[in-house]
Order: sequence, then structure tokens, then C-alpha cells
Amino acid sequence: MKLLKIIDFAHSLLKKSVSINDMVIDATVGNGYDTAFLAHLVGTEGKVFGFDIQAEAINSTKNYLIKNELDQNVTLFNKGHETIMESIPSEYYQKITGAIFNLGYLPGGDKQIVTKAETTISAIKQLIEIMKPEGIIILVIYHGHLEGAIERDEVMNFVQTIDQKIAHVIKYQFINQINNPPFVIAIEKR
Ligand SMILES: C[S@@+](CC[C@H](N)C(=O)[O-])C[C@H]1O[C@@H](n2cnc3c(N)ncnc32)[C@H](O)[C@@H]1O
Repeated sequence: MKLLKIIDFAHSLLKKSVSINDMVIDATVGNGYDTAFLAHLVGTEGKVFGFDIQAEAINSTKNYLIKNELDQNVTLFNKGHETIMESIPSEYYQKITGAIFNLGYLPGGDKQIVTKAETTISAIKQLIEIMKPEGIIILVIYHGHLEGAIERDEVMNFVQTIDQKIAHVIKYQFINQINNPPFVIAIEKR
């Protein structure tokens, strides 16, 4: 298939907006695959901030990063992404060039612990404020579970109302696949 798969498309946008030495955010660390991808993109002089409410996710990501020698420039917060502005020192504001949210539950973890629209939207609003112009926020929306469908609807209602003078917003989705495949929303701050 020539069309990019969902995660590949998400990563391709981050590759465009993020350069070596940049500052970036993984808003849902999980098992750390996106954190590692970002750490690789920004290099040892860059900075990655990661958030997850589950200690299990933070610990497994720490180990994964150490194993892959990508841990030096990563700061992990065992806190919700709704605390982004209070957690990240203000000296980093207006310097963040990329952020990713992989919504839903931790693969292989507790399926009852899921991202929720209210906190996701709060984090997006904070990011729009503190990111650098042309910085890109990626949302990978999983909506095959009940909470995911609720979150999808509320997040879509919100992102569709972001003022076009503030950000460009796009959707990338396979529209003929069965079983509610995930899709991407990308928000580029203007
Ligand atoms: C789909 S997983 C992330 C997968 C991850 N990006 C990876 O590469 O493995 C979603 C994660 O979001 C976390 N989460 C749920 N609510 C959160 C919140 N308010 N802030 C940060 N993380 C949250 C969950 O604990 C879970 O680990």
C-alpha cells in the first residue's frame, strides 16, 4: 500500500515539524514507542517531555528508553497531560515544535484506564498557547471502545471550532475500513 498507515502518517507530520535540538511532548507515553520516536528526532541536545497517569507506563517507558540509549534528553511526568502548563518550565514556552496524543487505553494494560475528552481538550488548549508557531499537535483517535467514541465526539466538536486564524486542523482517515479504525487529527499552530 502506498498510502501511509495511520501511525506512519502521524510520524511523517512530526518529522516535518520537528528538527534536531527541538523541544517536543508525548502527551500519552504508554509503552514509550512515540517517546522513543521523538527522542530520536530531537537528538541528545533536544528535549522530550512525556506524560502518563499510570506509573506502570512511565516505568516501562523508562526501561525501554534506557535499553535504546534514548533516555538522556527525556523527562517523564507521572501526571496527566492536563497539567502541561504547570509541569513544563515557562522557559520552554513558544519553543515546542511537536506533540502527540495516542488516545485510548494502554495496549496490554488496564482497559478501564482511558484518556478522557475533558482532560484531552484542556491539554490541547494549553498546547496551542505554549507551542511555537507552525508546531504540530497530533491526535491519534481510537474510537472502537465506548469511552473512545464519547471522547472522539467531544474532541471533534472542539477541534472543529478552533479559530482558523489560530490553527490549521486536518483529519486523515481510512473511510472504508471495518471496526472503527483509528484516525489522525493534526493541528498546526499559526
Ligand atoms: C494508547 S496509550 C499510549 C500509547 C503510547 N503512545 C505508545 O507508544 O505506546 C494511552 C495512554 O494514555 C494514558 N493516559 C490516560 N489519561 C491520561 C492523561 N490524562 N494524561 C496522560 N496520559 C493519560 C494511559 O495511561 C495510556 O498509557
